[in-house]
Amino acid sequence: MANLLITGGAGFIGSHLIYRLVKNYPQDHIYNLDALTYAGNPENLQAVEDAANYTFIKGDITDFAFLEQLFARYHFDGVIHLAAESHVDRSIANPMAFILTNVVGTVNLLNAAKNAWQGNYAGKRFYHVSTDEVYGSLGAEGYFTEETAYDPRSPYSASKASSDHFVRAWQHTYGLPVVISNCSNNYGPYQFPEKLLPLIINNIKEGKPLPVYGDGTNVRDWLWVEDHVAAIDLIYHQGTIGETYNIGGNNEWSNIDLVRTLCDVMDQLLDQPTGTSQGLITFVKDRPGHDQRYAIDATKLKDALGWEPLVGVPEGLRLTAQWYLANPEWLSRITSGAYREYYQQQYQDESL
Ligand code: NAD
Ligand code: DAU
Repeated sequence: MANLLITGGAGFIGSHLIYRLVKNYPQDHIYNLDALTYAGNPENLQAVEDAANYTFIKGDITDFAFLEQLFARYHFDGVIHLAAESHVDRSIANPMAFILTNVVGTVNLLNAAKNAWQGNYAGKRFYHVSTDEVYGSLGAEGYFTEETAYDPRSPYSASKASSDHFVRAWQHTYGLPVVISNCSNNYGPYQFPEKLLPLIINNIKEGKPLPVYGDGTNVRDWLWVEDHVAAIDLIYHQGTIGETYNIGGNNEWSNIDLVRTLCDVMDQLLDQPTGTSQGLITFVKDRPGHDQRYAIDATKLKDALGWEPLVGVPEGLRLTAQWYLANPEWLSRITSGAYREYYQQQYQDESL
């Protein structure tokens, strides 16, 4: 039986991870610490709200005194750290929020774990969930491996790279038992509709233009979110302390090809003539510093722990589009922001 702290569990990936852990580890207690920023939505977690082994805690990882009290109260055995500012475009507009949460917040958590565990590291583990963007941008050839030198190029990726370095420094200097994974682009239900795929789905529904940055040739490696949380589960429970694991879908798509394929899926689901949605595609001004290509070599994770992605892009796009079409209330509440006021009132900051 373990007390496990998940940060950022009301966000996109975090909510899928919480479902999996609450269901698969009934003997463990899963604590979800989330500040409920614009991206955090407890509505994602309704089905586990009343589970006996689940507790939601509203709080901010930039508040160190709060974290120290939290660790003293709940005696966590492990941490899976996902809380972050996660959107590259927002990091370009407001980098400081990324430095505060992604860098300072991560160091706060490392310190809170170090102080609470006091060198008694048996059975303890600090897992930091990171991104492939720390490796920079690839040309037409090659893949990111765990040995690729860091070369972050946006405020978001620089903040995540910085947090990765701090995590490794806490192991090297203080012996904290850490593990890190760097993952490619996730997609699936509950993703905030600022990210490419849910944005496109929402705009098709509303008949709005579909903005494709630059010439649309930028390439991303797409991973079904459930495949990512399966990897996180495996790495947390069976990965080797001090190791880094790359996670990727082996699913490279240029943005324009991906958007066109999603358009065709949406036309089928909305029962409209093929080509209707593609007519909404609009090439717009490029993202400043837009990385050209990301591609992950996940061989290490496959060889060490036997993980492989199970859902490919055509199927995953259909499942994603079906989910958003079946949940119009979720989409309209999250896009209007109406849910935030409700939840901010319902969940007060934890006072300890
Ligand atoms: P998200 O933006 O959907 O969710 C982030 C969550 O963190 C939200 O619930 C938010 O309320 C919470 N949060 C933000 N600031 C906080 C703070 N100061 N204190 C406490 N909680 C705070 O993000 P996501 O897409 O689910 O990503 C989760 C993690 O995975 C991030 O660390 C991200 O860098 C990493 N990651 C994401 C992807 C992807 O494709 N989405 C890929 C690789 C890695
Ligand atoms: O690679 C992992 C990363 O993937 C994660 O670490 C980030 O948290 C996550 O947001 C994602 O970053 P991206 O910048 O790749 O995701 P986004 O959905 O913003 O963009 C995907 C691609 O689509 C990217 O090349 C930019 C492009 N794009 C994006 C938007 C929002 C468009 O062409 N039009 C758009 O409107």
